[in-house]
Amino acid sequence: MNIERSPEVLTSSREIASTIDRLAAVIRRDYLGKEPLLLGILKGSFMFMADLIRRLDFPLEVEFVRLSSYGRGTESSGRISVVQGLRSVVRNRDVLVVEDIIDTGLTVAYLLGYLRKKKPASLRLCALLDKPARRKTAVHIDYLGITIPDRFVVGYGLDFDEKFRNLPDLCILED
Ligand code: XMP
Ligand code: MG
Repeated sequence: MNIERSPEVLTSSREIASTIDRLAAVIRRDYLGKEPLLLGILKGSFMFMADLIRRLDFPLEVEFVRLSSYGRGTESSGRISVVQGLRSVVRNRDVLVVEDIIDTGLTVAYLLGYLRKKKPASLRLCALLDKPARRKTAVHIDYLGITIPDRFVVGYGLDFDEKFRNLPDLCILED
């Protein structure tokens, strides 16, 4: 896919923005007065995190964790490990995991299990995108943006082979 050749847009930057407006309104209502720790999964969630927290007008903390699940392709390996560990203390915190996309669910299920052992006060999941067609393990998404079909998407932080993260719209990767 060539950026200059106008890729097929699945979700425009405008639709993404209004989706995040909606999510932020609910998250604000639920976490007001709690000082949550928003924990983004790198790298895909960096843009979503940046746009989400600018809509949350109360004290919060941001942390990122780097997990490895995908190799250089479009299929999940299923083998997950924490590449860059947590620096913030999770114990007794209201932790909100922020993820770009839930696909097989293996990545986030692993992280939620890992975090639960650290005894947070609460643990919830916010995902911009859900691709339920390929789910391998049940995942409850507390705050969900958009459900998408079983296509590999890039843009708005999501990559293929580390490219296309800079596309402002969510686009379908050509076969
Ligand atoms: P699982 O399968 O563990 O994977 O839920 C979640 C992670 O896989 C990546 N992923 C994608 N990345 N376009 C991408 O750029 C996609 O369509 C896609 N589907 C899954 C993503 O990194 C996510 O964190
Ligand atoms: Mg990701």
